[in-house]
Amino acid sequence: MKHEFIEKNVGLLAILIIIAISLGGLVEITPLLFQKETNTPVDDLRPYTALEMEGRDIYIREGCSVCHSQMIRPFRAETERYGHYSVAGEGVWEHPFLWGSKRTGPDLARVGQRYSDAWHKIHLLNPRDVVPQSNMPGFPWLAENRLTGEDTARKLDIFKNNFGVPYTDEDIAGAKAAVEGKTEMQALIAYLQSLGHALR
Ligand code: HEC
Repeated sequence: MKHEFIEKNVGLLAILIIIAISLGGLVEITPLLFQKETNTPVDDLRPYTALEMEGRDIYIREGCSVCHSQMIRPFRAETERYGHYSVAGEGVWEHPFLWGSKRTGPDLARVGQRYSDAWHKIHLLNPRDVVPQSNMPGFPWLAENRLTGEDTARKLDIFKNNFGVPYTDEDIAGAKAAVEGKTEMQALIAYLQSLGHALR
């Protein structure tokens, strides 16, 4: 009888559903915040250099993650193609994470060092020059736009102080000089070449 009463009162039912889902969520999510496996960096994880950090922002700006995931799942078909499956400890300094959920193109979690810088440059200018059947768009403006480095130190500083990424004072002080005058293409390629460095 109690059950019937709840089911016939939509407002009450909605409130009880929200309470049930919230409790379930808390029970599943809260432990993750304290588990060592999910918040300890894997052994040779290093923070992005200033140039890679700028490249990562360009990757976000250009929407690369709309077509590319960075999350290798623990299935044979994936590990044979892309390498070791992704582990949580590789992503502890990712803010925001770029795992993605759509694979129009291949997963990029371990694309670093798979191709030369020159290959990436040709590919990013016009993918069909190296992969004739590609439907990835070209990004030719990246070769023309130059970085000023105005915000780079601030970005590293935010990652250090808000997210606990171990940048040194020298990293932050040298950030502007490390990127100033470089093209967006150079920054993006540096970022791509760094992907998957920790479990290579
Ligand atoms: C519209 C979807 C789409 C977008 C947006 C896109 N790509 Fe791609 N990408 C693809 C497809 C499809 C392929 C496979 C064909 C090829 O290699 O060109 C690919 C391949 C790649 C590869 C080679 C991967 C491998 O393992 O062979 C890299 C690297 C890459 N993309 C980087 C990028 C970057 C960086 C951006 C953003 C600047 C980007 N892509 C944006 C669809 C996309």
